[in-house]
Parts: sequence; structure tokens; C-alpha cells
Amino acid sequence: MSESNTVTVSIENAVATVTLNRPHKRNAMSPTLHIEMVDVLEKLRYEKTSRVVVITGAGESFCAGMDLKQFFMDLKDDPAEFDRIYRMATEWRFRTLRYYPKPTIAMVNGYCFGGAFSIVEGCDLAFAAKEATFGLSEVNFKHYPGGSVSKSLANLMRPRDALYYAMTGRPFKGDRAAEIGFINAAYPLAELRDEVMALAQEIASKDPDALHACKDGYRFSLEMSADAAINYAAAKSDQLTLRQKDSWRSEGIGDFLDGKYRPGLGGHEKAEK
Ligand code: ACO
Repeated sequence: MSESNTVTVSIENAVATVTLNRPHKRNAMSPTLHIEMVDVLEKLRYEKTSRVVVITGAGESFCAGMDLKQFFMDLKDDPAEFDRIYRMATEWRFRTLRYYPKPTIAMVNGYCFGGAFSIVEGCDLAFAAKEATFGLSEVNFKHYPGGSVSKSLANLMRPRDALYYAMTGRPFKGDRAAEIGFINAAYPLAELRDEVMALAQEIASKDPDALHACKDGYRFSLEMSADAAINYAAAKSDQLTLRQKDSWRSEGIGDFLDGKYRPGLGGHEKAEK
């Protein structure tokens, strides 16, 4: 476990690109990668120059799932260490990403297998290359979508699609991933980065507290009764008012009422000052 820099970060135009960086292993998630990813996400959470996080893979792969050797074989006889890494591995993909304060986008540039489905599902948005290959390959090696993956499938995929791909292990391409709603859209690989970065910058131009509320409002409502969700929404709105010093009303609505822009057609940043 002497490797490092299994995750790299670059920040440009308010967008942080987090790259899984084990291209020689198709960016399979080793224990070190999980440890480094937890650290990276913790730092980016409070970092001030980035407002959107994009996750992608180095080279021609997005992520070939768990490192089958380092995770399942090497830790076979060390249940405590297996548990430590298992908890970390599920925590960042399944909880940290889901409730992350900044918008997150998965940019699937190539192979995406097994455990990588939880990265895609954990992100708010996901785009892939048409050429990318997705697969729930677990059944092909006599296992099943374990860890957080089955729950990720249950969250996002239609039952027929989830069970079809889990039980056959058949690979599918980016277009199909978009068709079944697992990702937002697929683009030719040559256009993927430009499309995702343009969208990321558009989102980065919005109010960060409003974006955080968009995420929380949706994510937490999923697990609440309707009454609790409506009550939560009212409290969330008050929190937003406090955090923004009422600017959604004074500027957001105020500038519309002054005829400076039309929120139905674009963001407040376009309001004439
Ligand atoms: N775990 C560990 N090592 C891996 C993994 C993985 N998930 N995926 C690829 N590698 C390694 C290979 O062992 C190989 O290592 P080596 O060069 O030291 O021999 C290297 O990455 C390149 O792999 P190749 O198979 O030679 O590359 P190729 O481009 O032909 O195929 C592919 C890529 C399709 C991703 C293939 O490697 C593969 O099927 N990997 C396993 C995918 C998988 O089933 N992932 C697990 C999902 S289940 C889970 O996440 C719990």
C-alpha cells in the first residue's frame, strides 16, 4: 500500500476536477484510493475557490470498481482492516457525496464497473461518453452488487433494468445508461469534457447557498413523510434567508420586479446592475 496520488485535484473556473488516478489498473479503487478520496472530499468541502466538483478517471477508464486484489484478496484474513476500508469505501460514495454541500457531477469517460456505480449514483448529475462501457460485472465472478451498490441501484434504476444488468452482468454503453436514466446524457467522448465543464460552470454561477438548498430539499425529502418534508422546506427557506442575508428576496425577486432580468429565462447573474 505504498502508492499515493491515487486521486488528483485541479481547480479551474470555480470547478474542481477530482480524478481517480490509477490508469494502469483502470482506476480500480484500492484501499489507498479510498483513504485519499476521503481526504480530498474533506478538503474540497471547505475550499473556497471551487463551487462544483466533477469526478472523472485518468486515461481511458472511469473506474473499474473495487480493486479486486487489494480489497477482496489481500484483506481476506484481516477482518478489522477490511471493515475499516469497507466503511470508508461506502461512506464517501454513499453518504459524503449524497449530502455534499457543493454540486457534484460524475464524468464517465470510460469503463465503469460494479462499485463505480455508487460513485455515479452518489453524484447529483452524471454524464458519460457514448463509448463508455458500464457493467454490473459482479455476477460474472460469482458475486453480486455488494457494499453500497445494490442500494444505489435501488435508488436510481428501474427494477427491471437493475435486476437485468445485475443478473446478466452484461455490459452496456453510454447511450443505454442515458436511456435508462442512470445518467443524464451521453456525448461522444471527444465532446464529453467540454459539455460537462460548460454545465459545471453554469451551475457554479448560481448562488451556492441556493444550490445547497436544492440538494438538501430533494435528498432529505426522499426519506421524509410529506408533512415532515413541507415543514423541513419552510425551515430550510428560513435558513437560506439567514445565510444569504435575504438576498433571494432583495436581489433575486427585487431585480425581477425592477425589470432587470427574467428568472424564467436565466439566472440572476444576468441582471443589469
Ligand atoms: N481490480 C484490480 N485490478 C484491476 C481491476 C480491478 N477491478 N480492473 C482492472 N485491473 C487491472 C488488471 O488486473 C490489470 O493489471 P496488470 O496489468 O497488473 O495485469 C490492469 O488493471 C489492466 O487490466 P486489463 O484487464 O489488462 O485491461 P483491459 O483494458 O483489457 O480490460 C477491464 C479492462 C474490462 C476493466 C478488465 O480489467 C476487467 O474486467 N476488470 C474487472 C472489472 C470488474 O469486474 N470490477 C469489479 C466490479 S465489482 C466491485 O466493484 C465490488
